[in-house]
Amino acid sequence: MQILVTGGAGYIGAHVVRLLRARGDEVIVVDDLVAGRAARLDGLSVTRMELSGDSSADELEALMRMNRVEAVIHFAARKQVAESVVRPAWYYQQNIGSLANVLLAMERAAVRRLVFSSSAAVYGSTEGAAISETDATQPISPYGETKLICEKLVTAATRAFDLRAASLRYFNVAGAGWPELGDNAISNLVPMVFERVDAGEPPLIFGNDYPTPDGTCIRDYVHVLDLADAHVASLDRLAGDADGHSVFNVGTGTGTSVREMIDVIGRVAGASPEPRVLPRRPGDAARVVASPRKIEEQLRWRPRRGVQEIVSSAWEAHRWSAKRQ
Ligand code: WQD
Repeated sequence: MQILVTGGAGYIGAHVVRLLRARGDEVIVVDDLVAGRAARLDGLSVTRMELSGDSSADELEALMRMNRVEAVIHFAARKQVAESVVRPAWYYQQNIGSLANVLLAMERAAVRRLVFSSSAAVYGSTEGAAISETDATQPISPYGETKLICEKLVTAATRAFDLRAASLRYFNVAGAGWPELGDNAISNLVPMVFERVDAGEPPLIFGNDYPTPDGTCIRDYVHVLDLADAHVASLDRLAGDADGHSVFNVGTGTGTSVREMIDVIGRVAGASPEPRVLPRRPGDAARVVASPRKIEEQLRWRPRRGVQEIVSSAWEAHRWSAKRQ
């Protein structure tokens, strides 16, 4: 199949591109290379493009026609929650604007299948039970708002033209399928603790007074390779009988606390300094864990890697990257 992947030079996108090419799909990557890295793509060329630009819809349409694109996977977005609070208008312009251009181009070029990268951030502060797709969506950050609005736009597009779509709401993604495809952003727990280990500093725990067994926040960590598999499974389902817009949580259903993650990282990295407890980080929910029932039933997807493999693969990628700096 001819597949256009926006943000394909990013951490998650590059994993999906590698899986698609390995099974024989032709992949066209579009990326602005701000966060993405062309080196992740094994020599595949990247069409460099800022997707929210005025001419982007025309450029994307031309690219889709020229390559006879049959499906799009749209990863490209700004995804720093804290940054979105400080720059809300830019986040709306970037995240919603880029999707709008992708959809305009798809309609004009008669491309009928879309997999959209959404986020558990659309749920906002949850009560702590396992979250299902029918639960209330009340995002608490402009980032989460843009992802929810994008999902609504995708639904509207499936009603306006011949489009089948799947949105994947990622829970906490970490790990690496290959050492060279690690996550180079340091805005999440695992890479942040790695940085502290490298610096010989104690890991930081943002709050240990939450209503959880050990007082620290609980999250649902999913291996990036399992997440990539979910994208391929979604794409194949859209090639079949799926119609309209389906939304799936991509998580394991298992929660792990910050302190538990730090303990695993300490064992893997061979350094376990006593963490330093700081006050709570604004906007953090005590527990964010998926109910993966719907994706398991409808896509026959199941996570195959647990926290130990997530952390050990992330650590191997971190060391691979450090050797090349
Ligand atoms: C996890 C927990 C922190 C660092 C975010 C986005 C979400 C998604 C994943 C894009 C929290 C705690 C962290 C540290 C700590 N991104 N923590 N010490 O906030 O659950 O989710 O990333 O889709 O949309 O919201 O992930 O890794 O930032 O934090 O105690 O040094 O670890 O307070 O409880 P989060 P995170």
